[in-house]
This record gives sequence, C-alpha cells and structure tokens, in this order.
Amino acid sequence: MTAPLLSLRGIFKHYGPVHALDGVDFDLFPGEIVGLVGDNGAGKSTLIKVMSGAVVPDGGAILFEGKPVVLRSPQDARAIGIETVYQDLAVVPWLDVEANLFLGREMTGNRWWNRWFLDKRAMRREAAHHIASLQVGLKSVRQPVGLLSGGQRQSVAVARAISWGRKVVIMDEPTAALGVRESRGVLDLIKRVKERGLAVVLISHNLPHVFEVTDRIFVLRQGTEAGTLVTGETHVTDVVSLITGVKVSAAVA
Ligand SMILES: Nc1ncnc2c1ncn2[C@@H]1O[C@H](COP(=O)(O)OP(=O)(O)OP(=O)(O)O)[C@@H](O)[C@H]1O
Ligand SMILES: [Mg+2]
Repeated sequence: MTAPLLSLRGIFKHYGPVHALDGVDFDLFPGEIVGLVGDNGAGKSTLIKVMSGAVVPDGGAILFEGKPVVLRSPQDARAIGIETVYQDLAVVPWLDVEANLFLGREMTGNRWWNRWFLDKRAMRREAAHHIASLQVGLKSVRQPVGLLSGGQRQSVAVARAISWGRKVVIMDEPTAALGVRESRGVLDLIKRVKERGLAVVLISHNLPHVFEVTDRIFVLRQGTEAGTLVTGETHVTDVVSLITGVKVSAAVA
C-alpha cells in the first residue's frame, strides 16, 4: 500500500460552543478521488478549509507527503500543490475569465518575470482547453465573470483549480449550481484530473455524482467520522445510514 499524500490527524475546530470538527482523522492517497459527504452543518466545508489553509484548526496535525505541515493560509496550501474550489465561490465579478484564472498568483521580483510570462502562456492554453471541455458556452476568456451565469462562474472556478493543482484538487459542491450538461462536464473533468495522477476531494450532496466518480466515500456526522466506505463495494443506502445515523433498509430506499 502506498503512503498517503495528505493526512489529517485528530483535527479539532470549535466555533464558540459549536464543535464543527471533533477529532477527525482523514487520509488521501495519490491518484484517488474521495467523496466527502454528510448532512448540512456536518463539518464538510470546515474540514476541506483545514486542508486548504483557509481555516487553522484548534488542534490536530496535518501531514503532507509524510511530513508535518502548518497551513496558515490558502497560499501555504497552494505552495505545496493543493488547490481548492470553495462552496462560497471566490471569483471577482468585474475581472474577466482569464484574470480570474490567475487570481492570487501575483509573482514578485524580476527573477520570476520571464517564468511568469511562460507560465502564463502555457496556462492560458490549458485554461482555454479546460473551459472548452467544460462545455459552458463561454464566448471568450475576456468576458467579465460578472456577466456569466452562476453555473458558468462555477465552471471557471473549477477550471482554475484544475489548471493550477499539482498534487491535490479539493472541490466543495462543484456541481451544486449546474445543469445536467454542465455537471457532466465537471464530472468528466474530475475523472481526467485523476488520470493525471492528482488526488481529488469532492464534497457533494448529490450521491449519484459521488458514486459515479469516487473511489472511497468519507462520511462526516456532527463533526466526527461516521465511517469510510469503498465506493465499488457500497450501496447508496449504506451511505444514507451513515449520514443520518439511522439504519436504512435497501428494500425501502
Ligand atoms: N465561520 C464560522 N463561524 C461560526 N460557525 C461556523 C463557521 N463556519 C462553520 N460554522 C459552523 O460549523 C458547523 C459546520 O459547518 P460546515 O460549513 O463545515 O458544514 P457543512 O458540512 O459544509 O454543511 P453544508 O452541507 O450546509 O455546506 C456548522 O454548525 C456551522 O454553523
Ligand atoms: Mg459546506
């Protein structure tokens, strides 16, 4: 068995009296897609924010490629190859699609200037390719994001994370605002990310989507792990039972 790429150990995060995360252990292996599911308020977004540096936990440890890391900001996570699509999308409406794809990538100092241009040219090509494959009907990467539909904006955020992610891509409800065709585009893209050898964490309330693309399913309930299942050996009712804490019979589901 290979070593995990990313491991969380005993992660705690409390908001006043709310125990958003109450001692969570989580492993992500190279090249796998893990679905993260649970009811509203179970702690899913908080957990992926810990992985992406957006939330600093009150306790616990994060290991990346076997070494302890401290992620104090999304920049820290990006620096080690972790990219995230947040549930509350961080796109800037008045910038065009391309500028949004480069958001948060400010390079400093002349030494980086040439590389930045080279990267930018390659990135532009790759981003245009991802956006085309997402089939969101964008006319141009020069369109301001504010003029796009909710689903198109979401697709831009997905394309951005996938273009930049080197090791891990985390997506919080990437298909929530999307129609059937656009969802299909995102799901196909997730499968292609896996083919590139990256690991993916996918949060979704849409269990058919989770079953279609994931290798394992991690269920959170009230800030703790309710169970982890191998997707191919699992029935949807098993997942529902873990989410709700109530045994569901396959006969009635
Ligand atoms: N910034 C915050 N301040 C206070 N409480 C918070 C904050 N963020 C999350 N919480 C609380 O922590 C708990 C877990 O929230 P979280 O957003 O992680 O849930 P979730 O599983 O992503 O839910 P959903 O499916 O609705 O997106 C909830 O009770 C929520 O109210
Ligand atoms: Mg959430």
